[in-house]
This record gives sequence, structure tokens and C-alpha cells, in this order.
Amino acid sequence: MVALVVQRTERRGVGMSRVALLEGLFPASVRAAEASEDDFGGQLWPSEQALIESAVAARRREFTGGRVLARRLMADLNLPERAILSGPDRAPTWPEGVVGSISHTGDRCVVAVAPRTAIAMLGLDIEVCRDLDRDLWPEVCAPEELAWLAEQPAEDRGWLATLLFSAKECGYKGEYPLTQTFVDFQQGRVAVHRESDTEGTFEVGYPEEVASRLPVPNPRGRWTIREGLVITALAVTQPPGDAPLRGSPRTERPRTA
Ligand SMILES: CC(C)(COP(=O)(O)OP(=O)(O)OC[C@H]1O[C@@H](n2cnc3c(N)ncnc32)[C@H](O)[C@@H]1OP(=O)(O)O)[C@@H](O)C(=O)NCCC(=O)NCCS
Repeated sequence: MVALVVQRTERRGVGMSRVALLEGLFPASVRAAEASEDDFGGQLWPSEQALIESAVAARRREFTGGRVLARRLMADLNLPERAILSGPDRAPTWPEGVVGSISHTGDRCVVAVAPRTAIAMLGLDIEVCRDLDRDLWPEVCAPEELAWLAEQPAEDRGWLATLLFSAKECGYKGEYPLTQTFVDFQQGRVAVHRESDTEGTFEVGYPEEVASRLPVPNPRGRWTIREGLVITALAVTQPPGDAPLRGSPRTERPRTA
């Protein structure tokens, strides 16, 4: 018993040290952390294992890190520990009552989870902070986003394009579980607000048929540059008293800042 308690404390210790990367990006009801080597080397549930049996080693590692960390964070919130499978659309199948989001890049993996009673919509994305290939800008960015990039200092445009890319993926991971609707990069809109060179907020805009099914039509997230990563995080809290999600005051689609 004592040994179990000690192990649990150590595991929490490992988890704590990995929380810093995402600190301050989410409300307190969200648990978010970076996967540790313990997570990457942890145990999947059999039904999860079956999903990656034939995958390459790097995919098995990232999948394992995400699932094991997610379960650790769920346990921390006293949420039910269950297998987290993937649908045909690749979206994770979170247990009843849980919202979550997973992202990996290279050998890093981050996860955010929360009780659905507290958080209605959750998205998280990380990308290596480097200039997005110029050829990809027109694929990732809508014309008004390209115009906004052109107004930014020349030396910042490349990484800001990566930030737009990340914020769109974050916004997609947030909306899809609620709408089951694919939104491509040209349909989504992101408006970035810079508080400093490494911190700020962003607003995501969606096509009307998607926006009308979200708790807020233009959710606002936070972005940061830390440890060589672009990190985008989005959490929409549930209305007080578990009120219906619809009917929030509408705002305009985001415009470029
Ligand atoms: C789904 C997508 C966002 C994932 O991004 P990625 O660069 O491949 O990789 P990331 O590591 O950041 O994210 C992968 C994780 O996203 C999650 N994910 C995948 N599809 C998802 C979906 N439909 N809804 C929510 N989460 C999803 C999964 O947890 C996955 O990890 P896992 O397979 O280990 O469980 C991307 O592949 C995609 O399809 N983008 C196009 C849609 C889009 O971004 N539109 C922008 C409109 S605003």
C-alpha cells in the first residue's frame, strides 16, 4: 500500500513538471500536460493496442503517449478511466462526460481533458515554431489572412503563418466533436491578436452551418511560443447552471487584427 502511494506521488511529480509548457492557457477546470517518457512507455488498453498493431514505431509511440497521459489526467479529475479509441474520422472517442484534445509533433505530445459539465468545447495543437513553407500559405490561409500576414513585419510572417495553421487545427479539433463536420482550411478563419512576440489570443470563424451548432460562434483561444513550439489552446466554458448551449449572443466573424 505504501509502495503504491509512493509510486502515485512520483507519477504526479512527473506530471507536474510537464504541466509548465501549457500553463495559463486553459481555465482551471481543464487538466493539460505534456507527455513524459513514462507516458510514451506506458500501457495501452487492449482495444487501443489493436488500433496501432500494424503502425510504425513513431506512430505507436505518439499514440501511446497521448492515451496514457489522457488517462492520467482523467484520473486526476476523478473522471472515469476508459479506453480512448479513434473513430473512422480519426477523432478520439472520449468517455461519456469527458472532453479532450490531443496533439503531437516530432517527439512531443500534449493532451488536455476536462469534465463536459465544465467545458463545452476544447482544442489543442502544437507545431514546431518555424516558418511555414511559402508555397503552403495560399492553401492554409484565406485571402484576408494573407492580407493580414502582408501587414506584419517581414521577419515574422513565416512563423505567423504557422500560428494560423495551428490555430485552425486547434479550432477544428474543438468544433468537430460537436458537429461531426469537416471544415477545411479555406472555410475556417482565424484572427490573431498579438499581446507580445510570444503570447496572444486568436478567434476562430466557421461556416454558418457549423457556427450555429457551437456554444459560441467565434470561440477565442490563447496562443504562445514556448520551448520552440507554437501552441494554440481553445476552451469554451459551459454556461452557468448547465443552460442550453445554443442561443449565445452572436458576434461577427473574426476580422484580421
Ligand atoms: C485532424 C487534424 C487537425 C490533426 O492534425 P495533425 O497535424 O495531423 O496532428 P496533431 O498531432 O496535431 O493531432 C492529431 C490528433 O488530433 C486528434 N484528431 C484527429 N481527428 C480529429 C477530429 N476530427 N476531431 C478532433 N480531434 C481529432 C486525434 O486525437 C489525433 O491524435 P491521435 O490520432 O493520436 O488520437 C488534421 O489532420 C486535419 O485533418 N486538418 C484539416 C482540418 C482543419 O484543420 N481545418 C481547419 C478549419 S478551422
